[in-house]
Amino acid sequence: MKIFSSIKSKDLAEKIIYELNTKYAHNIHLGKLNINKFSDGEILPKIDDDIKNSDMFFINTLDTSDSILETILVVDAAKRLGCKKFILVAPYLAYSRQDKVDYVGSSLGAQSLARTLENSGIDILITIDLHSSKVKEFYQIPVIEIDGKEIFKDFFVDSIKNNTCLVSPDQGGVAKMKSFLKDFPYINTAVMSKKRVRPNEVKSLNLKGQVRGKDVIILDDIADTLGTIVKASQLLLHKGANSVQAVATHGVLSGRAFVNLEKSSLTELVVSDTLNNMDNPKLRVISSCKAISKYIHLLMNK
Ligand code: R5P
Repeated sequence: MKIFSSIKSKDLAEKIIYELNTKYAHNIHLGKLNINKFSDGEILPKIDDDIKNSDMFFINTLDTSDSILETILVVDAAKRLGCKKFILVAPYLAYSRQDKVDYVGSSLGAQSLARTLENSGIDILITIDLHSSKVKEFYQIPVIEIDGKEIFKDFFVDSIKNNTCLVSPDQGGVAKMKSFLKDFPYINTAVMSKKRVRPNEVKSLNLKGQVRGKDVIILDDIADTLGTIVKASQLLLHKGANSVQAVATHGVLSGRAFVNLEKSSLTELVVSDTLNNMDNPKLRVISSCKAISKYIHLLMNK
């Protein structure tokens, strides 16, 4: 078994390897992989380790088109060297939000990506909190989807008090909330419904449930421009919430996200490290390395 990573996911990969070596007594070093780039941006990976007949883990968060292409080329390089099984660890899997055709004439991004990754030769995919259960169904290969609550469990144990109310900002998040309720069955909940006009633009939100006097924690899978979370927090405060904090597994934080965060009344945004982010006083990052290393260890011992 060998573990490699992209440049972007190197910090996370090193934390995962540290966990594997200290908690599970492995003796793993990060494999030698150079990702070279031509001046026009073309990617040329080179694996400098013997992986013939070995299983290979590749840690690469798929947040951009480049990271997707990088993965496809690394699988090709690995298979040419005789790698047995290629296990992609993509803590964040882009295009998951495109799990249905929303407009006539548009694409089905999550399915296209699934086909592309499978055709490239990936044997197993490990990822965290897909946008919906539909995404997993697009794959024929085994997909291990880690539940984000494994990452945030300690945070919730410390944060949940009697007047805490967990809020899903849209109907799509209800399944995620239900999963949390298995561990925290007595917590108050409320659900919002969201109307979106176009990607990243929320038109209106409605609230079902009582939040007056409550300390609210919004629970979402993705915090991208923060349009959803900020709009939700405004409505929650308007409806009498004491305070609003948000937890989102994937801190995509693109566009005006940081400006929106600073201007917002959110007390804190908590994300995991499936994506790299800038430091910000209102942002808390909790590492996903423990959860990921657990599943890598399980596969290693199979
Ligand atoms: C969408 O349904 C997702 O669950 C997130 O709520 C959404 O992607 C967040 O995007 P933004 O932060 O741009 O509103």
